[in-house]
Amino acid sequence: MVWDLPTRLFHWGFVISIAGAYISGERGAIDAHEYFGLAACGLLAFRLIWGFVGHETARFVVFLRGPKAIWAYIKHLVARTSTLQPGHNPTGALAVIAMLALMGAMAVTGLWTGDDILYEAPLTVVGAAPELAGPMGAWHQRLHILVIPLVALHVLALLAHRLWLGEKLVSRMVTGGEGRTLPSPKRTQAGLALLVICVGGALSLSLLTPSY
Ligand code: HEM
Ligand code: HEM
Repeated sequence: MVWDLPTRLFHWGFVISIAGAYISGERGAIDAHEYFGLAACGLLAFRLIWGFVGHETARFVVFLRGPKAIWAYIKHLVARTSTLQPGHNPTGALAVIAMLALMGAMAVTGLWTGDDILYEAPLTVVGAAPELAGPMGAWHQRLHILVIPLVALHVLALLAHRLWLGEKLVSRMVTGGEGRTLPSPKRTQAGLALLVICVGGALSLSLLTPSY
């Protein structure tokens, strides 16, 4: 199997939480925004840990490749001679890191972001580093404009893989796919438990803030 169950649940949960956070943030629906944003925080915490202890294809050391491998893959891509990779391809890996970093920055800055009217974010409520509230809120505002372009690039790259190379990457992220050269997934139960703990723990931060 290419993508184990915890990684797939992470991905589709992440799609829902980022889309939900973006739309509710733009509309000023703060209650919903807090839940979606905190869920994204929890999912990211899970993904960071899973990147060290998870299934082969989820591990950062396995999918992060050096400039040589990236360049070689790009040449094959252009010549249409690249083969279906058992996990992220070397260029896709860069996009994965960019998405995790951007969404991670949004999620962390959000923990200090208030709306200057009624809402104060969890870490402001508990008085953790109050001097960060201003700059974090400003970065939350600045960085949000990168979310749609990066997600659009991700979806366009998947479309290009389908049309240019005939690779069906999306169905593989749904079913897990076949990975004959890969070891079978280990620690699936532990991964699912970790996912629930991380998301539940992050969502419980909403108990610190009053609802409107
Ligand atoms: C808010 C929107 C989205 C975000 C933030 C997002 C984020 C990500 C991330 C972080 C990964 C890496 C997964 C991991 O290693 O854990 C990934 C991979 C993937 N995503 Fe998304 N994604 C989004 C939307 C979508 C949509 C709409 C689709 C399907 C049409 C999709 C299909 C995939 C697939 C197939 C992969 C694996 C690519 C590969 O084989 O290397 N994603 N995405
Ligand atoms: C990855 C997760 C997140 C995303 C993608 C996201 C996205 C957004 C977006 C698009 C806006 C509207 C910005 C604008 O139109 O100027 C926004 C505003 C806001 N976000 Fe987030 N956010 C996330 C996480 C969080 C978290 C975890 C919290 C707090 C718990 C939070 C608190 C806020 C607040 C209070 C605003 C309103 C700021 C204002 O009115 O000036 N966000 N966010």
